[in-house]
Amino acid sequence: MNPDNTPPASGHSENSDVGDLAAERVRIFDTTLRDGEQAPGFSMDRRAKLRMAHALEALGVDIIEAGFPSASPDDFASVSEIARVLRGPTVCGLARCHDNDIDACGRALEVARHGRIHLFLSTSPLHREHKLNMSKQQVIDTACAAIERAKKLCHEVEFSAEDAMRTEPEYLVEVFSAAIAAGATTVNVPDTVGYTTPLEMAERITYLRKHVRGADQVVFSTHCHDDLGMAVANSLAGVAAGARQVECTINGIGERAGNASMEEVVMALRVRGAFFGVDTGIDARKLYPTSRLLTQLTGQAVARNKAVVGENAFAHESGIHQHGMLKHRGTYEIMRPQDVGMGETRLVLGKHSGRHALRQRLQSLGHEVDEAAMDNIFARFKALADKKRDVHDQDLEAIALGMDPEATGPWRIVQLNTNSHLGGSASASVKLTHDSGHEVGEAAIGDGPVDAVLRAIERATGTALDVTQFQVRAVSEGGDAQGQAQLTARHAERDWRGSGVSTDIIEATAHAALAIVNRIERQQPVTPRAAVAAL
Ligand code: KIV
Ligand code: ZN
Repeated sequence: MNPDNTPPASGHSENSDVGDLAAERVRIFDTTLRDGEQAPGFSMDRRAKLRMAHALEALGVDIIEAGFPSASPDDFASVSEIARVLRGPTVCGLARCHDNDIDACGRALEVARHGRIHLFLSTSPLHREHKLNMSKQQVIDTACAAIERAKKLCHEVEFSAEDAMRTEPEYLVEVFSAAIAAGATTVNVPDTVGYTTPLEMAERITYLRKHVRGADQVVFSTHCHDDLGMAVANSLAGVAAGARQVECTINGIGERAGNASMEEVVMALRVRGAFFGVDTGIDARKLYPTSRLLTQLTGQAVARNKAVVGENAFAHESGIHQHGMLKHRGTYEIMRPQDVGMGETRLVLGKHSGRHALRQRLQSLGHEVDEAAMDNIFARFKALADKKRDVHDQDLEAIALGMDPEATGPWRIVQLNTNSHLGGSASASVKLTHDSGHEVGEAAIGDGPVDAVLRAIERATGTALDVTQFQVRAVSEGGDAQGQAQLTARHAERDWRGSGVSTDIIEATAHAALAIVNRIERQQPVTPRAAVAAL
């Protein structure tokens, strides 16, 4: 166990959760890789999670909830890997109040520089009766025993009273008072079902801070779901009432309607700094690039009108607004696109642009690339600029994020031909190479060119792909925009996802299919959902 992670000898008074940050600082606890990732359509494989974790570290989040170690061996490995490589943020793992969960979490975090075990147990009457079948006292005893066990493995222990906002307030006081006495360093007040309102949240946090014994020794936290569209407002109300940790996700992804969106919480606290009187440690200029990274890794775009990071968030179309903006930007703009790292111009480079301009543009989009990666990116940029007149920010991001399976192998496309007729069948032929040195060519017919290409790839690689989802969307603007194809396929009882980008959407689909085949060959499955659902 790393010494930084060792419990101090003298208990609560050395609670670094409370002592090391000013009272005006709100800790940002990111759960994109746990609550976000467990939502249907947002699962990520281990490599994607690691990439996201690095981006969250660069963004400046205080705590990263990296996963649920006992949910599956893959979740365990992700949490452990993230704990090993991140040096700045606290890395947190989720555990039920079960010995096996707690021990698995402790093992996964053994290598962390700063680790935290996050325990949860339901406290509301509905959950006590129908889910847990436990009395009020049994819930308290179970939580305390779990906290004491976790405390032996990790100094920082967070306790979440699941469904707290539908729990009797007086009982919640007893639960949290006992949890603090048992060693909890952060107490979290989740609105698990997205039921509460801002006023109620503010009242609840105020009440708890006043009545919970030991309240001044811990950090109060919010964790709001967006079922009624109030997750961000409820989190902010919690902060106004004294909560000093907000649990949130990039793009607001999460169970059902999602969690509070980090970019909205952070920018509200910043833009309305004078009102809230608090700040976060987030580098806001990395919000947009991090949001984009998540959409690329999951294939799930945000709505155009999404606050802070949507494509329209800073676009002023109406004549009246444009007129006002030209006279004084402040008339209709409360923050600038560059404040959140969004490029001010969307049209960027062309085929005559040089390496220096490309590097600068990538930097302004939040991508620091080393020399070796730059060679590859520059070559791909030139190839793209030859095909398409204007290269947009989104095109560059697609290149920088390396969504192309070319980068990963072992299979690569050498040739691809398709033929289709209106109202008739289609045919495709592919030639592929494998890192082992062999080359294989196959042809197939199908209902359309996409179907034909997928069949040809299945034949060539010998890997059966049962496609369950297929999406194509434009990466940027205009008729010559690159298309991103996103495929999910079932293979060996697991879901596998791949994406590909090209100016030709059939080619993009072939890259996406090959990304899946490559992933299967490298045996990097996405976390089996069944394992999480069974919890
Ligand atoms: O929504 C919730 O209650 C949770 C807990 C595990 C904190 O996600
Ligand atoms: Zn949640």
